[in-house]
Amino acid sequence: MSNKLTVSPSAPLRGCIRVPGDKSISHRVLLLGSLAEGDSQVGGFLPSGDCLATLACLQSLSVEIETHDATTLTVHGRGLQGLREPSGPLNCARSGTTMRLLAGILAGQAFGVSGATLTGEPQLLRRPMHRITEPLRRMGAEIEDTDGHAPLTIRGRSLHGYDHTLTVASAQVKSALLLAGLYADGPTTIRQPGPARDHTERMLTAMGATIEVSDLTIALAPSPSPLAPLSLTIPADISSAAFLLVAAVLVPDSEVIVEGVGVNPTRTGLLDVLRAMGAEVVLENKREQGNEPVADVTVRASDLVGVEIGGDTVVRMIDEFPVLAVAATQAHGTTVVRGAADLRVKETDRIAAVVAELRALGARIDPLPDGFIIEGPTPLHGAAADSHGDHRLAMALAVAGLIAEGKVLIGNAECIADSFPGFVGLMRGLTTDR
Ligand code: S3P
Repeated sequence: MSNKLTVSPSAPLRGCIRVPGDKSISHRVLLLGSLAEGDSQVGGFLPSGDCLATLACLQSLSVEIETHDATTLTVHGRGLQGLREPSGPLNCARSGTTMRLLAGILAGQAFGVSGATLTGEPQLLRRPMHRITEPLRRMGAEIEDTDGHAPLTIRGRSLHGYDHTLTVASAQVKSALLLAGLYADGPTTIRQPGPARDHTERMLTAMGATIEVSDLTIALAPSPSPLAPLSLTIPADISSAAFLLVAAVLVPDSEVIVEGVGVNPTRTGLLDVLRAMGAEVVLENKREQGNEPVADVTVRASDLVGVEIGGDTVVRMIDEFPVLAVAATQAHGTTVVRGAADLRVKETDRIAAVVAELRALGARIDPLPDGFIIEGPTPLHGAAADSHGDHRLAMALAVAGLIAEGKVLIGNAECIADSFPGFVGLMRGLTTDR
């Protein structure tokens, strides 16, 4: 995809489509599949920039990953002790999930004195890493960082179990600690302040790990047997579907069905919020796929009202706020988001960036320290906008472009491929007046 994406007002969106596989699950299948004893067979893999960064890092750790086609893979697991010291730094590109989860695995590796270094693009080097380095050090890992930021040089040690109480409801932190916990000589307990996505727990359970989940507490004990390989088709990513669903809610006369979407309750906050705003959202054909609930999701163009969003809902839709903000510009009344300060340390400061870019399109939006306030409905107009290198902001701006008067020009749009390769083509395929 080129750097600039130009989006014009859209005719109704109609159709039944599939979006690519879930990003969080794709990372985890690669990482956990590498630690299994045996071959994991994976369908529905997401070949996006972030997941391909994980794949390349694992190959540098001597894991063999066969790609049958872009979305079908075999991960030849090497067992918990089978990774080999890499010959150079591991490049996590722009992917926080790659860096944080790999840090958990590297904490338990008995590599030589130089250890392994995790690095990435400047955007990733700006994101906070103390949230993983501190608890991993408490488990016994030796980690060098720069003021709490990557590059991280990790020298694995024999780890001990630890009882962690997380201050942020973060699945990346939780997963890093669970992965390190696989190497610990005693139980690892994690207490979360909110329901962060639970894909790691589900996958570890399917692989035979000794793991118990009770409400927001997870207990992992050292396992006498190796991790069993996986065989699964990854559900479609609800965080990618979100852009199409919001677009269909906003563009008059639209009706879109997105098939086979992962509807894990730790991820469905946006659906709840859209319903509370008055949108017609229907889940059909609910089933299980790869230890995850999936459904076909239908939405129709709807009139929206403003809502207040906070608490656990924030955690259950943490990646959806850029596109929710676009929806809120069209809702009657005030939408208030609070308790979402973690948005400030995502791919960019998503509160500041969403406010700046949507204001440029005419939105009435004000930042809060931990969220934002939007007054609607406001007609949006064409303008030059910028993704700030953030894939989700780029796609949210594209959705805004569908309903704005005039053209929205989105700079630095190539980052869309970090999570949703094929986004532009899928959107075009839904437009009725081709
Ligand atoms: C992810 C967890 C979330 C999310 C990110 C993917 C994961 O981050 O924002 O896109 O796969 O574990 P945090 O754990 O930092 O909230």
